[in-house]
Amino acid sequence: MKIGIDKIGFHTPHLYVDMNNLAVARNVEPEKFTIGIGQEKMAVPPITQDPVTLAANAALEILDEEDKEKIDFVIFGTESGIDHSKSAGVYVHHLLGLDSHARTIEVKQACYGATAAIQMAKGHIALNPKSRVLVLGSDIARYGLNTSGEATQGAGAVALVISADPKIMALEDQSAYLTADIMDFWRPIYSDKAFVDGKFSNEQYILFFSKVWEAYKEKTDHGLKDFEAICYHLPYTKMGMKALKTILDEGTEEDKERLSANYKISADYNRNVGNIYTGSLYLSLLSLLEQKEDLEAGSRIGLYSYGSGAVGEFFTGILQPHYREYLHVEQHTKLFSSRTEVTVPEYEEIFEKTLPIDGSSLELDIEKDPANICLAGIKDNMRQYVNKLR
Ligand code: CAA
Repeated sequence: MKIGIDKIGFHTPHLYVDMNNLAVARNVEPEKFTIGIGQEKMAVPPITQDPVTLAANAALEILDEEDKEKIDFVIFGTESGIDHSKSAGVYVHHLLGLDSHARTIEVKQACYGATAAIQMAKGHIALNPKSRVLVLGSDIARYGLNTSGEATQGAGAVALVISADPKIMALEDQSAYLTADIMDFWRPIYSDKAFVDGKFSNEQYILFFSKVWEAYKEKTDHGLKDFEAICYHLPYTKMGMKALKTILDEGTEEDKERLSANYKISADYNRNVGNIYTGSLYLSLLSLLEQKEDLEAGSRIGLYSYGSGAVGEFFTGILQPHYREYLHVEQHTKLFSSRTEVTVPEYEEIFEKTLPIDGSSLELDIEKDPANICLAGIKDNMRQYVNKLR
């Protein structure tokens, strides 16, 4: 039985800051951010968007009535969750009006969360071929103003329906994974900003990639010639390129050209959104599928997932016949083109504006936010969500 990605949705906030302007404000050459880091625009989440609303908005565009009935497992991957106890998935389950006979959980392992969710979903479908699983990868990446990580912030969510006989991509069974206890990036529960050892995190990302790639090759006998493209977790777009470059010499000139060209396409959405942590790999996959019109069904795509701390995995999928018909290219083109640019001072003001943590109430103006699902405030320590379509 084929199991894999049946649908992919995506959402990012309607505001962004231009990396050239951020560079000028931080007194660095714009090329450091646009070439050295490889980012053009950074999504800026208004206070009316949080990981719950981003995920719910991403799922809203893909689910039909049949999905709502058949989804019996919601797995929410995040590393910027809003509650230490209650799963963010339960809010999304309600906001989307899913059938109540469902399991709903949140999973965490830095940017690896959504991949863990997908693998869990695959097992669930193998046992329950008629059901569908909603996997959500949603995060707001916050390092802080004027920090070295600032240029690698971002916000957004990806929603995936995992099912039998998937319309977009069948996941293959062979995969290679690795865990090691390292402190390259972490966020203690008392902090709303990540702590990071930037250089060490870059080294570990590449080291994990080389280990899982070698292990994968041993298991499968596959090499670069077997891949149309390899998509990466992209904390910033230069990072995946650095990892890809370490293996390009294993292939022919043709392999090098194909994989480099397709890498560029797969990084395009990420270049314009920033790091969305656990959804980043799937945003990269979406960028490739939606922007490379001649990508043929039957192609094998490699996927490298990395979650600091750290867990890495290399796995693969095969594009299904007519997969393009099931993408939401128009909606995503509109989502990108209708965004509003904010100045650096405006971005800083939005960044500093956070919800009260002293139990006081706050009502937010959701009319300024074009998203269908918004955070309308906080009352009695409970976040108040609104689905404007209901
Ligand atoms: N023109 C072109 N390039 C320039 C330039 C210019 N004028 N000025 C600098 N550069 C280049 C540098 O040469 C460097 O390139 P290389 O990496 O290829 O050498 C690049 O720009 C970045 O410069 P620095 O290394 O000096 O940048 P930095 O130290 O200020 O910060 C960073 C870079 C460490 C990635 C930092 O942004 C950071 O800590 N980010 C968060 C951590 C992160 O994203 N880690 C990635 C792996 S961990 C992971 O993947 C999990 C996750 O999601 C967090």
